[in-house]
Amino acid sequence: MDKQEQELIQKMEQAFREKLGGDASQARRYFSPGRVNLIGEHTDYNGGHVFPCAISLGTYALVQDRQDMQTRLFSLNLADKGVIEFSMEGLKYEAAKDWANYPMGVISVFEQAGHKCSHGFDIVIGGTLPGGSGLSSSASLEVLTAVILNDAFDFGLDMVEMVKLSQKAENVFVGVNCGIMDQFAVGMGKANSAILLDCNTLEYRYSPIALAGASIVITNTNKPHSLASSAYNVRRAQCEHALNELREVRPELKSLGELTNEEFDKLAGHISEHLERQRARHAVYENQRTLAAVKALEDSDVAQFGRLMNASHVSLRDDYDVTGKELDTLAELAWEQPGVIGSRMTGAGFGGCTVSLVKNEAIEAFKKNVGESYEKAIGYAPSFYVANIADGTHRL
Ligand code: GLA
Repeated sequence: MDKQEQELIQKMEQAFREKLGGDASQARRYFSPGRVNLIGEHTDYNGGHVFPCAISLGTYALVQDRQDMQTRLFSLNLADKGVIEFSMEGLKYEAAKDWANYPMGVISVFEQAGHKCSHGFDIVIGGTLPGGSGLSSSASLEVLTAVILNDAFDFGLDMVEMVKLSQKAENVFVGVNCGIMDQFAVGMGKANSAILLDCNTLEYRYSPIALAGASIVITNTNKPHSLASSAYNVRRAQCEHALNELREVRPELKSLGELTNEEFDKLAGHISEHLERQRARHAVYENQRTLAAVKALEDSDVAQFGRLMNASHVSLRDDYDVTGKELDTLAELAWEQPGVIGSRMTGAGFGGCTVSLVKNEAIEAFKKNVGESYEKAIGYAPSFYVANIADGTHRL
C-alpha cells in the first residue's frame, strides 16, 4: 500500500468512528478499481470486442457487519450527502438517496436473483477516481458492493456472475442502459494486462501490456456537465434500428459485431438513414480495428496500435459523433506532441477523458504543452494521470 492509499484509509477510519460510531480497526477493507478502455468504444452493446484495463485509481471500502437489516453508508467524496441509511429488503430507486442507489441496486438485484442478505452493514467509502470523468466510478462501486455481499454471505458467486449482476443493477435499478464493458473490466482486471473481451459471448483473454518505455496517460477534459446518458441511448437505438434493417436481408445476423468491414460495405445500402449507416459503420469498423490493434500489440508493433487508436478517435468523432470540442481538442493536441504513440477518447464520450500512449521521456512536455494549449482553447485546464494497470475488485 503506498503513502497516498495509507492516508486515505486513515481518513476513512476516522470517518468510520466519527460518522458511524464504529471501531474501524475491526472493519474489513476492500478495493475496487476504475477502468480505462484502450480501444473498442461503443462496441460492447453492439456485440463487438473491447480492450479495457483496470487502473489503480478506484474505490475503497471499510465494512462492518450489523446485527439488524439496516445499512448505513458514508462517502468521503460526497461528505455533504451525509450518512445514507436504508433497509436491506425490498429496495426501490430513490432519487434522494443519491449515490447510494448504486449499492442499493446491487443489493436489490442480488435479492431478486435469490441471494438474500440476512443483515446490513456499516460502510465508509473513499475514492481516488475523479467523479464524472468517465473512468467508471459507478461500475467500481457496483462491483465493490457485489464482492462485499458475496464475501459476507458466502453466496459462492464467481466474478463473472457478479459482473453481470452489477451491470443489471445499473440497467434496471439505476436506469442507465450501459453495456458490460465497465463492470467486466473492474471485476476481472489483472495487473499489467488489458482484457480482450468478446461482448457477444463473454469469452475473454488477458493480453500483457508491455509498452517498451511508454506509459498510459489519461487526460481529463474536466468538462463540467455532459448529457451523456440520453445521447448514449440515442446511439444504441440508432444501431439497433440499423441492425434490424440489415436483418431484412440477413435474417440470421445477431449483432453488428458479427460483420467484417467488407460485409458491412456490401450491406450498408440496406440501412435507409444516412446517420444510422454511419453509426453502424463505426460499430463494425471499431470492432475490426480492436482485433487488429490487439494483434499489433501482441506482435510488439506498438506504433500500429497507436495509429489504430487515432483512427478510433476519428471514427468516434465523424461517424459516431460522441466526442465534442473538449475531447477533440485534447486528442488533436496529443497527436502533435513528440513521443505520442496514439491518443483517443475513452469511455462513453461527450466529455470525460482521453487515453494516450506516451513515451516516458516525453510525458512532462506532453502535460505542459497539451495542458497550456487546451486551457487557451477551452478556458480551463485538463488533469493528467499516469495509469497503472491494476487487479480487479478484491479484499485488501
Ligand atoms: C460507457 C458504458 C459502456 C460502453 C462505453 C462506450 O462507459 O458504460 O458499457 O458502452 O460507454 O464504449
